Amino acid sequence: MPVTVVVGAQWGDEGKAKIIDLLSRDHTYVVRYQGGHNAGHTVVVDGERYALQLVPSGVLYDHVVPVIGNGVVVDLPTLFAEVDTLEGRGIDCSALKVSSRAHLIFPWHQAHDAIAESVRGDDKIGTTLKGIGPAYADKARRVGIRAGEVVDPDAFRAAVRARAIAENAVIEHAGEAPLDVDAIVDAFAELGERVRPFVADTVTLLHAAVAAGEHVLLEGAQATFLDLDHGTYPYVTSSNPTAGGACAGSGIGPRDIDRVVGITKAYTTRVGAGPFPTELTDELGDRLVDVGREFGTVTGRRRRAGWLDAVMLRHAVRNNTLTEIALTKLDVLDGFDEVRVCTGYRLDGELLDAYPDRSDVLARVEPEYVTLPGWGEAVSAARSADDLPSAARDFIDLVEREVGVPVAVVGVGAARDDVVVRG
Ligand code: GDP
Ligand code: IMO
Ligand code: MG
Repeated sequence: MPVTVVVGAQWGDEGKAKIIDLLSRDHTYVVRYQGGHNAGHTVVVDGERYALQLVPSGVLYDHVVPVIGNGVVVDLPTLFAEVDTLEGRGIDCSALKVSSRAHLIFPWHQAHDAIAESVRGDDKIGTTLKGIGPAYADKARRVGIRAGEVVDPDAFRAAVRARAIAENAVIEHAGEAPLDVDAIVDAFAELGERVRPFVADTVTLLHAAVAAGEHVLLEGAQATFLDLDHGTYPYVTSSNPTAGGACAGSGIGPRDIDRVVGITKAYTTRVGAGPFPTELTDELGDRLVDVGREFGTVTGRRRRAGWLDAVMLRHAVRNNTLTEIALTKLDVLDGFDEVRVCTGYRLDGELLDAYPDRSDVLARVEPEYVTLPGWGEAVSAARSADDLPSAARDFIDLVEREVGVPVAVVGVGAARDDVVVRG
């Protein structure tokens, strides 16, 4: 299985990093292919918690080459803060590669993100304010600055200065305080020097790795329903987390991918605005948030929570051609009297047979549920399917039947080894 994609099957924070860390044991390259430091990927090893935003989640293993692919938008201050923190904790980051084709994020992107959110008023998307959307917009407008440009320091400096001046005019026009152009140019000239040894033609590097039969793991950030094309537009991020995006964002072609693992929690969460059919706004929702510690890794925001939605997951299976599912955070459902899974949507009384293509329609659907008895005992000590209570096994079987692909892995706790790998 040389190339594997890991993709979020819901609205993010499914526990992708934990599963990527698990799979990294058998992979030599772990490649981020989209998004930026809007991601917060948590791995817990020996009681130590690592919260990664840009550095690929395989970094904790010495045998892994972590790669930031061409599809990522890179905030250099965050990247080096993260590298310094990791190195300070004894994690070697010297093998890191940053694609020469990856676009850089600059302070004007963050300024534009804030302005765009404030202009939306009550219609805010609830972005992470990291400048992700504006950086991808510049890429699409063909005015972005790519990491490869740092190889010529004078030209890089001039490009940063020209863009800063142009963007300042727009920022001032919006009534905001202008950015300090000289300070930005100096800071980024220094960051450019620092990133230079890490910059590489990662596309050629990965082609060589695939040709040599190396195992490559493509790490998705965000998720299927935050995808710019396939998510709940406009309440989405500005990249393509779906498996198709893994090809564009890494340079690896679709026929080289043999395995696509979709990650889902045993329930659903979302952070930021947008439709959420199975959302629970009662004490059951509060319980999911409290027990599941559902607060954003990056922004600290409280996540919205609700029951598992198999309609979403079926769509994610098709959209990503998932070969299997990893079902995380099963332990959070311990002790619920009953657990529910949404198996269908009704709109004006009619059962829908396709996932709604409009957010206003999705906001109006009524979920249909299958209700199962809960399990009283804790699942966290389980290491094989036989160790799980029978009610928990019934829940997993229901998910598998509804979704149509195997549930290959079940998460029963936050730590690296808190998993049940099913046959
Ligand atoms: P990602 O963005 O998809 O990588 O997920 P996050 O790291 O943002 O959020 C997932 C959270 O759940 C993190 O705090 C993980 O440590 C934690 N986690 C992952 N898997 C499990 C699990 O099976 N059980 C529990 N209780 N926590 C988990
Ligand atoms: P990981 O990789 C959850 C959400 C934001 C907002 C929307 C757009 O940790 O799963 P953006 O800043 O990307 O323009 O915000 O997307 N969002 C995430 N939600 N997990 C993430 O990443 C997210 N990255 C962005 O909350 O609703
Ligand atoms: Mg996260």
